[in-house]
Order: sequence, then structure tokens, then C-alpha cells
Amino acid sequence: MELSSRVQKITESVTLKLNAKATDMAAQGKKIYNLTAGQLPFRPMSEFVDLIRSESDFIKSFQYSPVAGFPELRKKVLQNFQNTRNINLETAVEGVEFEAVISNGGKHSLTNVLGCLIDHGDEVIIFSPYWVSYPEMVNFCGGTPVIVDTSPFDVFVPSLEEIERKITDKTKIIIVNSPNNPTGTHYEDGWMASFAEMMLKYPNIMIISDEIYYELFFYDPRPTYFYQHRPELLARTVIVDGISKTLASTGLRIGFTIAPKELTTVINKLQGQTTSGANSLVQRALSQFDFNQIPVYLEPIKRHLRDNAEALGEALSEHQLGHVFYQPTSAFYYLLDFSQTPCIEKFKERSQQDDYSVEICEELLDEYGLALVPGEAFGCPNTARMSLVLEKEPFKEALDILMKFLLSD
Ligand SMILES: Cc1ncc(COP(=O)(O)O)c(C=O)c1O
Repeated sequence: MELSSRVQKITESVTLKLNAKATDMAAQGKKIYNLTAGQLPFRPMSEFVDLIRSESDFIKSFQYSPVAGFPELRKKVLQNFQNTRNINLETAVEGVEFEAVISNGGKHSLTNVLGCLIDHGDEVIIFSPYWVSYPEMVNFCGGTPVIVDTSPFDVFVPSLEEIERKITDKTKIIIVNSPNNPTGTHYEDGWMASFAEMMLKYPNIMIISDEIYYELFFYDPRPTYFYQHRPELLARTVIVDGISKTLASTGLRIGFTIAPKELTTVINKLQGQTTSGANSLVQRALSQFDFNQIPVYLEPIKRHLRDNAEALGEALSEHQLGHVFYQPTSAFYYLLDFSQTPCIEKFKERSQQDDYSVEICEELLDEYGLALVPGEAFGCPNTARMSLVLEKEPFKEALDILMKFLLSD
């Protein structure tokens, strides 16, 4: 079979591979602590579930939805965005009208946007550590990912000088993901303000702001954005959001894109010829749902994440590894830097390479029963992403095991 060169370039997801191995080992009766989760392991809000149940009484819930999404829901998404980000889209940019499109998850929203913006050879700037799918999506669309590296010593915040160094006349888009997967932090308001000023110098570059974890900040201040400082940037900004993370509904596949109408019109065209409108039943339930309930639903979840983040900080400092800790504040991840811990030495003795993250994670799983996602997947060598969502007791047990491993030589 002659597969397209485009599809042959897609790499297999390391997350899924490791997750499958961890699940296999657990099925064989081995005690496994799986910290690879990219989702909240909790039941969604009962009000939302009840709405899905009641909307299932209507035939319309099982038929095609309008391609761009039900108008009531699109209106609600726009309204919620304006309320939570304190932005008035009617007056934000003179002469620019904004719209929302509902798609099959945030991932679909992003591929739509990239598909509508990227031409062959266009460059897309991505900050590392990055969410695994950005470079793959850009490659698939014929673009070139250009990576801006960051350092654990700067808590993975990209320097504006470094971003500017990577800008060329081929730069089409910059992707900003705050709160961030995999670091579990959001960029400070000061960084956003400076980023906004910098972007004013480059009027042809679009910005994708991936805000899928927006509501999941568990330390104040809440995330803020560059366009709140310079609303005129909204004329070339695309916001991606959805219900996967904030309503613990990854399987329902609903994502939102908010952008100038010039772009949403073509997204609508692309979506109409490829996937059609998103899940009607869930859209109809969301149209009735009070989005103001989301922070109420998330409050105990955030407390839980805060507790686990605190437990991680305490465990590291009790084991004289406090220098590896930074404060996670949002989403539900932590990016652990092995290069500052004794365990890295034995890997260096075995072979000479720049990145041992895969070998480290394999040994952690095979010998310690602890599953993490190697930093290789996020373009960040010698690190691994750990999820903070596990219940308190097993999370503490996992930390004990992790400390033993980090101190082993
Ligand atoms: C940063 C980021 N953006 C987008 C998505 C896509 O979310 P969805 O499940 O809605 O496709 C994810 C999912 O893990 C993510 O981590």
C-alpha cells in the first residue's frame, strides 16, 4: 500500500504507547501507579449529565447539527468568553466581527484552524515544552514547526528575545498555550503584556491562544492574556477552548474556536466538507447549561490538585530535592526535571545521548510500577510529565516510589 508521505511523517503518540503498557501490566495483576492521565478522573457535573439525559428525548438530538454548531450554543460560548476574560467583542476591534465555531474537541478546532491558515512552507512558532500534537498537526498541514526552547531554571517561560530571534518572513502563526500542558503553569500577566507589545511589531503574524485549561487554575492570580492588554490583537487571534478539561468530558468531543468572522467562515466551509457539525446531543445539553457553574464544579477538584501539588513539593524538599521543585499553578501536570537528580548518572554511564527520558520512564514503569510520560514527547529532554489528578493516598505512595528512584544511583 502506498501511504501518503504526509501521513507517514506522523509519529506514534508516546503517551498512548506507555499508557497501553501500564494498562497491560495492571491487567496482569502488577501494582501500577499511572500518572500519565491527560484527563480528570471525576464524574462531570450532575446538572450537565441531567441535561444530556433530558435532551436525549428529542429526535433533533440525534440528527445533524448546523455545521458551525447550534446558534444558541455559539452565542453562549461567545458570551462566556467575554464574561470570563472581561472583553467586549463588539467594541474590541473596530470593523471586525467575531464568531464561535463548535467542533469535535479542541484538537479538531486546532486542526481546522491550522488547515485554514497554513500554506506549504509556512513557519509556526511553538514554545517547548509543547503539547505533543502541535508539531504533528503543523507538519500534517505542510507547515514547518519552529521551536523556541525554554529552561527549567526559568520555569519554562519563553524569552521574548528568543521568540523574536525565531521570527522570519515565513512566520505565519505563534501558538501560545497558557495554562500549559505539560508544565502545569500559566504565564504571568507581565509576560502577556510584553508579548502583546512585541506582537504589535509583527502585524502579519497570527496568534493561536490555546485556552483549553483556562478554568483550571488552582493558585491565584487567574490566567490572563495578551489581548486583554492590546484588544486590537484579537483581529489576528484565534482562541481555542472546549469542555474536555473543565467539564471532565474528554470523551464527548466538543471544542470551541473563537475568531474573526473572516476565519470562522472558512472553518465552517472546511468542517462542512470533512466532519460536519459536532455531537448534537451534547451541544443541545450545553445550550441549556449554565456556564457560570463551571468554577463551582471545579472548586473541590482544584483543592485536590493544590493538595497533591503541595505533597509533591514537600516530598521533594524532604528528600533534599527541593531545587527540582517549581510551583505548579494550573492545568493538572508537573514536568519533572531528572537532569538535576542523582538518578540521571546511571543512564549517562550506560550510554552517551542528549535525552534519557524514554529510558528513564521505561525503567520507572518496568521496575517501580510508576508510569510517567517522557519529556521527549514534549520536546523537553530529561524530563517527564506527571499528572496530579490521582487520589491523595495512591498519589502519596507514588511519590514515595518516585523519591526512591530519583535518589537511586
Ligand atoms: C494543550 C491542549 N490543547 C488541546 C487539547 C485538546 O483537547 P480535546 O480533548 O478537547 O481535543 C489538549 C488535550 O489534551 C491539550 O492538552
